[in-house]
Amino acid sequence: MLNRDDNELLTQVGLGTPMGDLLRQYWMPAALSEELPKCDLPPLRVKLLGEKLLAFRDSTGQVGLVSEVCPHRGASLFFGRNEESGLRCVYHGWKFDVGGHCIDMPNEAPDCPLRKKVKLRAYPCSERNGVIWAYLGPREKPPALYDLEWNQQPDNIPFMWRNYRACNWVQAMEGDIDSSHINFLHRTLNFDDLSTVPGVPIPGYAATGVRMLQEAGIPRLEVQDTEAGVLHTAARNLGACGDYYSLE
Ligand code: FES
Repeated sequence: MLNRDDNELLTQVGLGTPMGDLLRQYWMPAALSEELPKCDLPPLRVKLLGEKLLAFRDSTGQVGLVSEVCPHRGASLFFGRNEESGLRCVYHGWKFDVGGHCIDMPNEAPDCPLRKKVKLRAYPCSERNGVIWAYLGPREKPPALYDLEWNQQPDNIPFMWRNYRACNWVQAMEGDIDSSHINFLHRTLNFDDLSTVPGVPIPGYAATGVRMLQEAGIPRLEVQDTEAGVLHTAARNLGACGDYYSLE
């Protein structure tokens, strides 16, 4: 059992915290591409590592991830207009591009030096295979985006979703690693109505998947060190066909 201080150290991830600094060294998924389907649509609220951010797709299709708070007088840019390659604050009209640069300041003279100084906090994004990744770290040039098996597949990956978990990242990670709970907690007695399965995102979750996990109740857990970190798998014997099914 962790004491209170260790627990705080591990779970607090805001700017300037030790664990926040560590996690900011890595790219992280921020949103699904389908949540920003077209250019110049209203921004999407995204909360990452305790930061209130907005994602938006500008007129050229580029994705921006910026602070929700306007650097002028603190109005929420969530209510701003995403127009002509920038997000315009509704309060005084300052407009910011995906890099956080102020590109219009209608309440100041055109040569106002302030425009070059003002910067909205903005993070680099990269979009691949239906997922928008963000790098919140300090490096001017972010590291290369990970080449994971699933993010190099064709664009038609059938099973991708984003959900809200009311817990800290450690609790979520522990739950994911603890694969053997799936057979019990996420079981169903009625395959015709998967909405009764706790924690299963509906739609998009095939009945065969739930049945398979339920019937293969004893996962074989394996852990491997890799260059990118630790690879954890829970393999289940599918019996009749003699194959193993792995969750990673
Ligand atoms: S508060 Fe955003 S432009 Fe003034």
